[in-house]
Amino acid sequence: MLRRLFNQLMTLGAGSLGAESSAQETEGGQPPDAGDGPTPFVPANREPVNIDDVRELAKQKMESATFEYVDTGSLDGLTLKENIEAFRRLQLMPPLLKGVAQAEMSTTVLGEKIALPIMLAPVAGQQMYHPNGGQAAARAAASAGTVYCMSSSVGNSVEEIAAASRGPKWFQLYMPRDRGVARRLVERVDKAGFKAIIMTVDLGEWKDADRRNSFALPKEMLVKHLQDIGFDNINERMSNQEVQDFNAQAWHVSLTWDVFDWLRSITDLPLLIKGVLRKDDARRAVSIGLDGIVVSNHGGRRLDGMPATIDVLPEIVKVVGDRAEIYMDGGIRRGTDVLKAISRGARAVLIGRPYAWGLGAAGEDGVRQVIDLLREEFENAMVSSGCARLADIDDSLIR
Ligand code: FNR
Repeated sequence: MLRRLFNQLMTLGAGSLGAESSAQETEGGQPPDAGDGPTPFVPANREPVNIDDVRELAKQKMESATFEYVDTGSLDGLTLKENIEAFRRLQLMPPLLKGVAQAEMSTTVLGEKIALPIMLAPVAGQQMYHPNGGQAAARAAASAGTVYCMSSSVGNSVEEIAAASRGPKWFQLYMPRDRGVARRLVERVDKAGFKAIIMTVDLGEWKDADRRNSFALPKEMLVKHLQDIGFDNINERMSNQEVQDFNAQAWHVSLTWDVFDWLRSITDLPLLIKGVLRKDDARRAVSIGLDGIVVSNHGGRRLDGMPATIDVLPEIVKVVGDRAEIYMDGGIRRGTDVLKAISRGARAVLIGRPYAWGLGAAGEDGVRQVIDLLREEFENAMVSSGCARLADIDDSLIR
């Protein structure tokens, strides 16, 4: 039972705990306020001026169970809250009189130039937030000149995302149990022009809100998702229960390090590991030749009680050095957070909830607006800190 629940929570992030129900009203009030920001309410006709405003618009627009699926963290939300609070605790110490009036934010990730060090993290179920789903988010990333990380569980096929956007794209892999399906999927990812594979290894969401709401993908979305992955023995004629049962056994949820040997044997694409918090795991990742590490606690959606990613980032940077590129995600809500992450050694950051809120609030335009808001805030933070380019940002900025 537990394994089944775990599988369902992993694939498409939430999954059904029973009856199909994607949009129930929550009893017992509002979700915990993860934003805790300055703007309590934005009238629908006003332009958002920060990410909290976008969140508020998304809350007004999205089905409440779907909004809660995006918004909440696991158990008591300790890690979710800590991701945000840890950024707030860090203070900036900008040097004076550096003669900087504007900042150049471009960088390279795995050898590819991007316009700013903010990428879109893999986020499941995007068609539930907006009918154009992952295609809209991928297009917004492309127009901003940054990477769209497609989740295995986004709700689109790799070919649909590739057709929607010619911008830089990475593919996040959840492992199908059937290695034949996994191999064909990786081949399709390569053929479709994705530039890297991110293997997410911190699996299994456990969120009270989703259990309370019996939050689940509607059957037809789940069938499409499984077909998109490449499972061919699944179809709409199956009952909801049969589809759920199929899904429950389709995924590998107890992975070991040798999965990377296998991946390396079937693809030349750069490989990244997402979910690293410990130094020994980071050391192991570089020792087996992985190209990148995403320091992440899954946005506080998995094991509650883990530390903030910005707090563990310096230790990881220290043990990895320049042997792999280091990215981080979790709690980025302001341009100053991006500055802090880069000054602590991240090459770039990824955002999850902020753009999911943008998608829910206003589709492609909403995602673009989220990236624009963070870009403007980040540029202002760089200029105010006397940094004309990313290389000027160092840890002397933080105390
Ligand atoms: C996620 N995340 C995630 N990660 C992943 O590797 N595969 C996935 O399918 C998903 N799905 C998913 C759904 C939703 C709704 C959210 C909010 C997050 C985690 C995501 O990639 C990232 O690690 C966090 O979202 C980063 O934290 P913030 O930016 O949301 O604070």
